[in-house]
Amino acid sequence: MIYRIRFGAMIETDAVMRPEMAAKLLQGLDGKKGGLFDCIQIRKEEAIYCRLDRKDAVYGLGEQVRGINKRGWIYNSDNSDNPHHHEDTTSLYGSHNFLVIAGEKNYGIFLDYAGKVAFDVGYTEQDMLLIRPEDWNFDLYLFEGDSVKEIVRDFRRMTGRCYIPPKWAFGYGQSRWSYYSADEVRQIVKKHRENNLPLDAVYLDIDYMDNYKDFTVNGEAFPEFAEFVREMKRQHIHLVPIIDAGIKKEDGYSVYEEGKEKGYFCKKEDGSEFVAAVWPGHAVFPDFFHEEAREWFGNQYDYLLKQGIDGFWNDMNEPAIFYSEERLLQVFEKLESFKGKNLGMDDYFGMLDLVNGLSNNREDYESFYHDYRGRKIRHDKVHNLFGAFMTRAASEAFERLQPEKRILMFSRSSATGAHRYGGIWQGDNKSWWSHLRLNIRMCPSLNMCGFLYTGADLGGFGSNTTEDLMLRWMEFGIFTPLMRNHSAAGTRCQEIYQFKNLDAFRNILQFRYRLLPYLYSEFMKAALADEMYFQPLAFEYPEDDMASQVEDQLLVGESLMIAPVCEQNARGRYVYLPEEMKMYRLKQNGELESGILSAGHQYVAAELEELIFFLRKGHALPLAAGGNCVEEVDFDHLTVLTFGDGEISYRYYRDDGESRDYDNPDHISVLHVKGDCEMTAE
Ligand code: NOJ
Repeated sequence: MIYRIRFGAMIETDAVMRPEMAAKLLQGLDGKKGGLFDCIQIRKEEAIYCRLDRKDAVYGLGEQVRGINKRGWIYNSDNSDNPHHHEDTTSLYGSHNFLVIAGEKNYGIFLDYAGKVAFDVGYTEQDMLLIRPEDWNFDLYLFEGDSVKEIVRDFRRMTGRCYIPPKWAFGYGQSRWSYYSADEVRQIVKKHRENNLPLDAVYLDIDYMDNYKDFTVNGEAFPEFAEFVREMKRQHIHLVPIIDAGIKKEDGYSVYEEGKEKGYFCKKEDGSEFVAAVWPGHAVFPDFFHEEAREWFGNQYDYLLKQGIDGFWNDMNEPAIFYSEERLLQVFEKLESFKGKNLGMDDYFGMLDLVNGLSNNREDYESFYHDYRGRKIRHDKVHNLFGAFMTRAASEAFERLQPEKRILMFSRSSATGAHRYGGIWQGDNKSWWSHLRLNIRMCPSLNMCGFLYTGADLGGFGSNTTEDLMLRWMEFGIFTPLMRNHSAAGTRCQEIYQFKNLDAFRNILQFRYRLLPYLYSEFMKAALADEMYFQPLAFEYPEDDMASQVEDQLLVGESLMIAPVCEQNARGRYVYLPEEMKMYRLKQNGELESGILSAGHQYVAAELEELIFFLRKGHALPLAAGGNCVEEVDFDHLTVLTFGDGEISYRYYRDDGESRDYDNPDHISVLHVKGDCEMTAE
């Protein structure tokens, strides 16, 4: 059951696709009793209060720090560019206002709202969840269901089917800020190919552009770009360029000139252009909320599509701002007053704050406007939607420009609803073991909110990675739909051939390509049925008190459980098995060793080079022979691993991986197997 309560006049977010699913429209909660109404209290203009029992867990909120169970911290929906995030952080790149309280009663809450919201999940008072929106103009949805899974499914159904990428996008991608020339990219590909390291994509960061201008290519570093794209395609490599939200303000640059002439950029109160600095220096920002501007911006992607590009990543779209000219002038003036002064504590720290406060400054976000459905709206009121609407611009354009084909698209900034337009990567993480754990925990929370095509920068983006962290991260990364190794300029190079233990990396990566029939099939089934691809154990085993406390193991699709090793120097780990399972160990020599483990806590050895995973009883795992790219993988001839007596059936989804004919029933075949076997899928 879904209830909706409307407060004030909300700014449309377009997050909800099927409002009719909320059959019960309430005026408020006054006088309502029973079920979730016993747990929630609304004090208008103040907060929504939800009482938490000791055993209640709170799941959701998508891209956020900390655990799968969000209890014990404050999280803000306030899209922020934060490359230094850690446990103390309260907001990341996306805003996903959906959460589920699971316990004696299960209920879900979704705040359909574009503004800033604080979710105090037992921080101020341990037994209270407080939700404080910045103003009271929003739709509140309340979900009641027998299980968490049911509530999540309802939410997903209501907000629409998630984005589906092309099949090649399940291959491995190598990225770096930056590969500076076509020759450097050729080298990267060559190294992977000659070392038998599967690879499907190389990502181009900002330096492929001419002076950081979107929809241009630096002709000196990447001459004959279209031919280069074709050359790469012949080697089964897709080039995936980055697109930034800020457009360089430069006379003579056609994108800028055209957008300016048509009035498509965000404006200040007085109607003049809002200018702020990002990579190219002074830049302007397309008004993605304005339908015509959105269409115009989307059409710009055609410049690259026409050259054979079939994948993009949208960046800096919170939007990230280095500084605005106004703010910079203010800071210079104030700094002047510090000159020659004996700076005591207050002055010294005040001075540092001044400079650090230049970027992503709230006052800048309050100083420009959007033209949204005929209304002039100040940016901060819809800040959390900005990146989502950029991705929407791209996605709507792809449907117009290439209706037959799937295009890879993922974004850094996002909001609920954006899951229909693209995937997301999990932003600028660090080469920290804690960020490997964060990656694991964030995946199911994002899945709840509809983002199935997701993954983090493997090995860590900022700071220097280590060989063991890289390898352990790959051991988890082979299960994430988006599998990309990306790192920042100035950090240690982390292409996997840079490391000594290349055989181990190869073994793990090649296994990803063996897993593809399963991973792709599970992704597609989850996407088409509004289910999750990564699930916390608690969702599948709700009666198991122990399972609800597990924060570092996940279910991947219907058959597998994973328990990644994410402690440095660990040579194994404790694993909690909610039921008897068959454990597999991928040995260094590529062989799979298996054994049955009984339910309960088990210590499992896993040397650095060894991958462990678990097959659930009554389930099957189809594996391919592998390949050096997705195209080489034979999805028809399978080795099927099983656990259980008697016949086991597996619903296997297969398609061409390119067209949008997702729902064709011919794409599903049922594999019937008895014991492990080799088979040809019908
Ligand atoms: C920020 C992005 O998060 C990162 O992935 C990228 O490498 C840099 N921008 C440079 O484009």
